[in-house]
Amino acid sequence: MSLSRVTVTAVRNLHPVTFSPSPRINILYGANGSGKTSVLEAVHLLGLARSFRSTRLTPVIQYEQPTCTVFGQVELAGGGSSNLGISRERQGDFTIRIDGQNARSAAQLAEILPLQLINPDSFRLLEGAPKIRRQFLDWGVFHVEPRFLATWQRLQKALRQRNSWLRHGTLDAASQAAWDRELTLASADIDQFRRDYIKALKPVFERTLSELVELEGLTLSYYRGWDKDRELSEVLAASLHRDQYMGHTQAGPQRADLRLRLGAHNAADILSRGQQKLVVCALRIAQGHLLNQARRGQCIYLVDDLPSELDEQHRRALCRLLEELNCQVFITCVDHEFLREGWQTETPVALFHVEQGHITQTHDHRE
Ligand SMILES: Nc1ncnc2c1ncn2[C@@H]1O[C@H](COP(=O)(O)OP(=O)(O)OP(=O)(O)O)[C@@H](O)[C@H]1O
Ligand SMILES: [Mg+2]
Repeated sequence: MSLSRVTVTAVRNLHPVTFSPSPRINILYGANGSGKTSVLEAVHLLGLARSFRSTRLTPVIQYEQPTCTVFGQVELAGGGSSNLGISRERQGDFTIRIDGQNARSAAQLAEILPLQLINPDSFRLLEGAPKIRRQFLDWGVFHVEPRFLATWQRLQKALRQRNSWLRHGTLDAASQAAWDRELTLASADIDQFRRDYIKALKPVFERTLSELVELEGLTLSYYRGWDKDRELSEVLAASLHRDQYMGHTQAGPQRADLRLRLGAHNAADILSRGQQKLVVCALRIAQGHLLNQARRGQCIYLVDDLPSELDEQHRRALCRLLEELNCQVFITCVDHEFLREGWQTETPVALFHVEQGHITQTHDHRE
């Protein structure tokens, strides 16, 4: 997939604009505060119906405006195109339009427009809470395993039911046993999907990482959320009193995590900022390769402030890997000099100058 046209209204400081990105490399450059990140925010909103800066949406909507809207024409992997539209209001309500129809959920947007974000906050994938790594993992599973979403919804429902029962105990024992069974079945499926995904991701991640940076001994492993030697039903039964005391279920796929270690240490504790960024890039680029392999289309990369934290050699290595993915990429930077050169001659590269909220194309990939 790639965006062939984007229209943005009332997103942060951006003036209303329509622009036509290149299907491959797009470079947005301009001074601090000009609106480069805002352009990526707009694309992110279109793919996920939410902002990447915070869960609160108000900051994305331009001051004094009641709503912001983004439209995009997406060229689909199998040919043809799709028109997406999203508008958000200050109260958080949103409307999603897909080919002229109202859509029910943001998952439908995500399916048409898979996005990968790499920005100066990306190190959180290593340092932050397990939830961030689960989201990373599930993004991948969602896009390659068609049964994932329905199974995940089953799991959430059974989990909510159990947690409510733990707190209020209003259900009879037989009904709760049936819900617990549903919970363990859905958990086993989710675990299997995630396990299969990690098995496929690992070698691609390792290869990608080795092309970016030398980090001998870095390992990626998966923790499923409960003891690897015991059935979940057993674990749930054993921890019932504690779960009741805590008011929620403590073991299960909702506690899964990815572990990145360097020898005996947690990678996040040891690696430099630049190294962390490269590890995160390798993880996200590996996901793009798996999506390509699954032939469910390609994802779009949003790389905010690509040069930051990276030296010349690593910037080039990252650009080369992004280019090899054959995906659409949006890169922002303050100084675009080094990004002008170095791409393969057949790769279409478009440059956009962002200035006080205005976007001007300064180099057209069709020229
Ligand atoms: N809700 C809003 N309405 C209007 N303007 C906003 C809003 N939120 C932020 N801004 C302004 O938008 C401008 C552009 O911000 P943005 O983060 O896109 O800049 P940038 O080009 O990425 O800068 P940098 O190079 O520093 O990363 C900033 O001046 C910011 O103060
Ligand atoms: Mg920025």
